[in-house]
Order: sequence, then C-alpha cells, then structure tokens
Amino acid sequence: MRNIIFPFKDHLPKYKQIYDEIKLLIEQGDIKANEQLPSIRQLADSLDVSRNTTLMAYEQLIAEGYIRGESRKGYFVNALEPHLHEEVSDALNAHQKTEIAPSVRIDFRADAIDQQHFPLKAWRRIANQVLTAKDVYRYGDHFGELCLRKQIAAYILQSRGVKADPNAIIIGSSTQQMLVYLGHILKDEFERIIVEDPGFDGARKAFQFHRFHFETLPVYETGADLSKLEHMKSRLIYVTPSHQSPLGVSMSIQQRHKLIHWANQVRGYIIEDDYDSEFRYTQKPFPALPSIDATRVIYLGNFSKSFLPGIRLSYMVLPQPLSDHYKERFGLFESTTSLLSQLTMAKFMEDGEWHRHLKRMRLVYKRKMQLLVSALRDAFGHHLSIIGEQSGLYVFVKVHLNHSEEWLIERAFSHGVKVYPTSRYVVHNYPDKPMIKLGFSSLSFDEIQYGIELLKRAWL
Ligand SMILES: Cc1ncc(COP(=O)(O)O)c(C=O)c1O
Repeated sequence: MRNIIFPFKDHLPKYKQIYDEIKLLIEQGDIKANEQLPSIRQLADSLDVSRNTTLMAYEQLIAEGYIRGESRKGYFVNALEPHLHEEVSDALNAHQKTEIAPSVRIDFRADAIDQQHFPLKAWRRIANQVLTAKDVYRYGDHFGELCLRKQIAAYILQSRGVKADPNAIIIGSSTQQMLVYLGHILKDEFERIIVEDPGFDGARKAFQFHRFHFETLPVYETGADLSKLEHMKSRLIYVTPSHQSPLGVSMSIQQRHKLIHWANQVRGYIIEDDYDSEFRYTQKPFPALPSIDATRVIYLGNFSKSFLPGIRLSYMVLPQPLSDHYKERFGLFESTTSLLSQLTMAKFMEDGEWHRHLKRMRLVYKRKMQLLVSALRDAFGHHLSIIGEQSGLYVFVKVHLNHSEEWLIERAFSHGVKVYPTSRYVVHNYPDKPMIKLGFSSLSFDEIQYGIELLKRAWL
C-alpha cells in the first residue's frame, strides 16, 4: 500500500482534487490493478484533510468503477479494461490529430517570435563566416566565450545601466538551466526563497528541484506588495522588476530602492530576471537593479524573446563572491551552450546587427501591441480590462463576464482560437476575475485582427 501525496490548488474542492489525482494515477498505470489504497484515515492524515473529504473522493471513484471497497480489508484498484482504455485514448489522439490540430486558426502563443522580420540573411552570413574560422572546432569556454561575454557586458551597460566585468558573466543555455546551477551554490547558504505570486512557474520549478522552501510575495495589477518582506524569513528573492512575469507591471524606482535596501539589510540576494526588457513601448526602460547597487543582485538575461527562443542562449551576472564560488563548483563542467551560436551572436553584436535588429523589432512589436489593444477595446469595451500593454510580447485580459478561465479557453478553442491560462502562475493569489494570456509576437497584423474577431464571437 502506498502513500499518496500531492499539492492542493486553491480553487477546486479538495475531494475533487483527490479523486482526480487517484483517477489519473490509475489511468496512467501508476497504481496497478488490485493494489491496495491507503485507508480513509491514512490518506486524510497524509493530505491533512478531513476523513469526510477522502471518503467522498473514494465514494466517487467506487461509483465510477475505478476502485472497490472490500469489507474489513480496505480499498483496492479495479482492473481497467485495457483495450477499452487504449481505444479511447487512440480515438482521442486520432481525433486530436485530425480534428483539433487543423482547427486552430489563430494561436495567441507567447513563446514564439516574429519570423517574418527575423534577420535571416545577416545571421546566415555571419554563421557561415564563423563556421570557416580556424578556432571553432573545439569545446568552448566553460563559462561562455569571452568575446560574447564582452559584447553582453557592453550591451547591458548601454541598455540597462548594468556595469559588469565580463569575467563575472556566465553564459548558459536557458533561464531555468542557470537557475538550477545557481541553486546548487545558493542552497549552501539559503534554504528558503521568496517568489512572486503570481510568478514565473518555470523559475519555481527550478527552485523546487533543490527543495527550497517557498514564501510568496503577492503581486497585483498595481505592483508587488513589498511591505510583506518584513514578515518573511527568507533572505533570497526571485523577481522580474522590469516587466513582472506574468502581470506585466514594472517596479517603480522607489520600490527598487526598497528591495535593494532589504537585501542589504538581511544580507541576502535578489535574483533579477530581466527576461524581456528590450521591448518597452511607452517609456524608456527602467534601470535594472544592479545599476543602483550590484552588491546583492544576481542579474539574468536571455536571447529568447529579443532574438530566438530556440537559440537557447542566456546569461547571468554574479556578484564577486558568488562568481568565485560558482567557478570553483562548475570549473570542470563543460558549457551547456553551442559554441557556434555564441560566436555567431558575438559577431552579430559586434557588427551592429543586434542593435539594428532590436530597433526594428521594437517598432514591429509596438505596432502589433497597439493593434491588439485597440482591437480588444473595440471588440469588448468594458467587458474586459487589459493588463501589461506598456511592454513585452503579450498582454493579459481580465474578463468581466461570468465565466471561468476554463470556459473562456475552451470556448475560444471551439472557435479556432488558442488562448492561454494564467492559473498556472498562481500559488495562492488568485485574481478576482479570470485572466487570459494573449501573446502576439508570431502573428501577422491580419491574424491579430482576425483572432480578436473570432474571440468576440466566442466570448460575447
Ligand atoms: C520570467 C521569464 N524568465 C525567463 C524566460 C525565458 O526562459 P528561457 O531562457 O528558457 O527562454 C521566460 C520565458 O517565458 C520568462 O517568462
């Protein structure tokens, strides 16, 4: 008999979540036929719920034939009809392939970039030059190529006010990979971390890997509630000050000072994930935290939004003591990033192509954002409010209709539009109305317009 343990989400009844979890474990074959389940009392104790709650979940599973109760022995899993189960999932897969996939006409995904304006010619030319250079048929520098680190140092100084010694820059393959590596050295000194709520689930996953205990900093459409910091035990915090992920708000300069003051006071560290600050449409970008005081800031950036997600290229700037520690710990680890991509990017930046690319994309994305926002306002008026239109490659829409997030997504899907949930970013701090994420970077102007027309038909 195994114990079953999993985290509860806030918005569904607990008995339903227990029922869903056990049903899934049975359907996926993780709990086998005739295996005994924990007793009502054991399950209630391990999940910290009442016995009534576990009883209700078991009763539902019995009613649907997933499990059976045997008197004085306990609860056991019934054998599923394997053929029936396979047939159902085969039929579902076939249906998904033939019916669902082609029916998506507009996909408001936020994880892709504009292909039409990608600087393919310049990149190809430089990549070809790099391939014929003498020094590329080798492994790369463990912490990233010096030529790229120098280019990044110049770029973040000019664009974000961050003064970084190229030797304190580490190049990696992604934000999550860097956070996992960073976690290895931080967990020597820290066992808990503050994360934003709602906040980037990808970062939480990376910290979970090291079993950090979480404390959550509530973030609202008006910004983060930094007054909560005083009551927290953690001395480590992960934040996205320039464009809060996901809500899109920016931390004011006063808040930035406050955060830095806190980190100095508790002798902790701020991990600043500056993941898409290149695209700010209404004002000049706010300075990054290390431009105010770099002593206790670990600064992360990447090329996923500004250039190409698939290039898998990111970087982090470490304060001196952490940089030494990191190099000592990972000195024998090879780089996780392609040498060719690094050298090509370094030359791309050196030749001024990077600057030209950013300038062009800022304009393209600004126009797309304006179109998206005005199309949403025209279509929905007061039924919806738009959050995060000042920067980035997506917006959130808070929908003031009486529908759940699930309904809005499914309904959009039935009209050929793919839109995205926000509940995955939330730990406790659920919004009062459902919010939907709409990315626009990979869509053309016509597609954006058409997508909103379809959404209107679906939601109103
Ligand atoms: C907050 C945040 N940081 C970083 C990233 C980029 O991650 P990666 O480096 O894996 O592309 C994302 C991507 O959506 C993000 O939302």
